[in-house]
Amino acid sequence: MQRSRWVVFVQTLTGIERMGKRMKILVTGGAGFIGSNYIMYMLKKYPDYKIVNLDKLTYAGNLDNLSDVEENINYTFVKGDIADATLVDDLIKDVDVVINFAAETHVDRSISDPADFIKTDVYGTYVLLEAAMRHEIDRFIQISTDEVYGDAGEEPSKEDAPLMPRSPYAASKAGADRLAFSFWATYKTPVVITRCSNNYGSNQYPEKMIPLFVTNALEDKPLPVYGNGKNTRDWIFVEDHCHAIDIILHSDGIEGEVFNIGSGIEKSIIEIAEMILNMLGKSDDLIEFVKDRPGHVIRHAVNTEKIRSVLGWQPLIDFKTGMESTIKWYKENVEWWRRIKSGDYLEYYKKMYENR
Ligand code: NAD
Ligand code: DAU
Repeated sequence: MQRSRWVVFVQTLTGIERMGKRMKILVTGGAGFIGSNYIMYMLKKYPDYKIVNLDKLTYAGNLDNLSDVEENINYTFVKGDIADATLVDDLIKDVDVVINFAAETHVDRSISDPADFIKTDVYGTYVLLEAAMRHEIDRFIQISTDEVYGDAGEEPSKEDAPLMPRSPYAASKAGADRLAFSFWATYKTPVVITRCSNNYGSNQYPEKMIPLFVTNALEDKPLPVYGNGKNTRDWIFVEDHCHAIDIILHSDGIEGEVFNIGSGIEKSIIEIAEMILNMLGKSDDLIEFVKDRPGHVIRHAVNTEKIRSVLGWQPLIDFKTGMESTIKWYKENVEWWRRIKSGDYLEYYKKMYENR
């Protein structure tokens, strides 16, 4: 059976030397949603580790997300592009591990303007991998996504399911995902690939559904539900995702492997819209059905048996607790999202939602 084969494999190849070592980690895209949560999580859990955060500070990057650690002597921020080979080479030569979060990440933006997705998500990942290969680093974790599978259909996608990405974002991530694997297969660069489902929590840019709906509801603005609102996603609290990456970082014998990460909690858009309105004491009248997203994936769902049985990870936060904590955070950080929901964001919102 799959489970016992894996347990033996990990235990015999381990030793987990990295566990005792004061690791030096290059985190890319650390000023974004998941990257910033991951940096905070790691600096708290491993006060001896050194983290270098390379981030281009695109519209989605925000150093306010990291204000609690900016004075930490084990944390360094470098503003720059993962596609800048000279800079990347300079940074990677001094680290043990690379964790690549940097990406253009919003499906809707990839539909209207895909070029930056190819430049960053595919070419940028190549630049990182190439330097990682030359400098023989200990581990390269490619943060991929469950979007690479396309529609899950009847059964949650397993790691060996065909990749059928349905948006330019998903296709760029699939390119990066397989490119990362090819560096393991060809050069033995110690790559591990993760494919996580939809994250929610603090610091998420309010273009993504949950923070958009929460902040719109707080402002008594409509919640734009695409199509019939019945499309579903698997929703995972961001800290559970950070925990999974932490375990992957410290596990040996898993090079070249892909791990799905997800909660098993599947909810539709409309269910979440209603839950948010209910939690905020607002009327369902704020729900507004708008034109569907082209290529909209009906169901994303991942089978997480592999990470559970091989690495012993499991999600700890139930959806109600995670949503309460997330809504509380947006209520307490109005300045954070008001600053974002101004200037260029208003142009974006108009382009995306006006007359939709
Ligand atoms: P995000 O959009 O919040 O943050 C992306 C970060 O990358 C930003 O700080 C941005 O400035 C930075 N960045 C963009 N282009 C860059 C470049 N060329 N060089 C350096 N930095 C650059 O994204 P997120 O939601 O935190 O996602 C992080 C990673 O996790 C992405 O790789 C994404 O594909 C993956 N992922 C996200 C989810 C999710 O639900 N959000 C789920 C699965 C996987
Ligand atoms: O599955 C993992 C992926 O999850 C990540 O790889 C992506 O980076 C991340 O953006 C997310 O992609 P989605 O497209 O699933 O997330 P988004 O928040 O954009 O949309 C979630 C669902 O809500 C989806 O069915 C579309 C719907 N939606 C979204 C927005 C922004 C709406 O109905 N209205 C909206 O305004």
